[in-house]
Amino acid sequence: MSRSVPTELSGCAEKLIRGRHATRAFRPEAVPEDTMRTIFSLAGAAPSNSNAQPWQVEVVSGTARQRLADALQTAHTGRHTSVDYPYSDAMYSQAHQTRRAAFGAELYGALGIGPDDHTARVAYDSESLRFYGAPHAAFLFVNGDGGARLAADVGAYMQTLLLAMTAYGVDSCPQGLLSFYADTVRTELGVTGGRLLVGISFGYADEAAPVNRVTTERAPLESTTTFHD
Ligand SMILES: Cc1cc2nc3c(=O)[nH]c(=O)nc-3n(C[C@H](O)[C@H](O)[C@H](O)COP(=O)(O)O)c2cc1C
Repeated sequence: MSRSVPTELSGCAEKLIRGRHATRAFRPEAVPEDTMRTIFSLAGAAPSNSNAQPWQVEVVSGTARQRLADALQTAHTGRHTSVDYPYSDAMYSQAHQTRRAAFGAELYGALGIGPDDHTARVAYDSESLRFYGAPHAAFLFVNGDGGARLAADVGAYMQTLLLAMTAYGVDSCPQGLLSFYADTVRTELGVTGGRLLVGISFGYADEAAPVNRVTTERAPLESTTTFHD
C-alpha cells in the first residue's frame, strides 16, 4: 500500500474523531439555543440508504427534561422496562465479552464500585437515568418499519451528531440504558410512532469528576479489518 497523503482535513478529523469521548458527569449549564440548532442541523447531514433519513429526534431541556427524569426514576424503581430493540448479553461474541469486561472494570473502578456491589450498580443506573446531570437529552427514534437497515441509518445519524457536538465543544454520552424505558419516553414526550434506538445526554463535562477520566482502548486494526487485493 502506498503512504497516506494527508489533506487539510486530516488533522481536524484526527482531533474530532479521537477527541470524542463518553462523558458521565455534566455541569448544569445549558447549551445555547443557536448552538443546539447548528449541531442538530449538522447531524442531519448524515448519510442514509437512498437518503431516506429515517430518524425522528426528540430533544428535552428544562422542565421537559426534569419531568422525563422523574418519570424514568419512577419506572426504574417500579422495574417498568420496555424495549423496542431486544437486548441480550447472548448477542455478544467471546471477543466482545472480553472488551466489555475490560471497559466495565475501567468504568466501575473510576466510580469506586466493586464487581459484586449490585446495590451500588443499581444506584448508578438511577444516576444514568438522570442523564448524569446533563441539562439536555436527545432521543433517537427509528421510523418506517424500524428494522435493522433503518436502525443502521440512525446509527450513522448518532455518530454524526456526536461528532457535531464535539466540534462545538459540547460533551455527550450515548446511553442504551435510556432505550430500556421506551414506553416511558414515548408517553412523556407524546411520541406515537417509531422505535427508540438510543438516548444521548449532552451538555458540558464536569472536568473534575474522576468518571470523566475513564479511557477506552480499541482493538488493533488487523483484528477488525481485512484489506483484499
Ligand atoms: C449505542 C450505544 C449505547 C451506549 N450505552 C451506554 C450506556 O447505557 N451507559 C453508558 O454509560 N455508556 C453507554 N455507551 C457509551 C460506551 O460505553 C462508550 O462509547 C464506549 O465505552 C467507548 O468509549 P468512548 O465513547 O469514550 O470512546 C453507549 C454507546 C453506544 C454507541
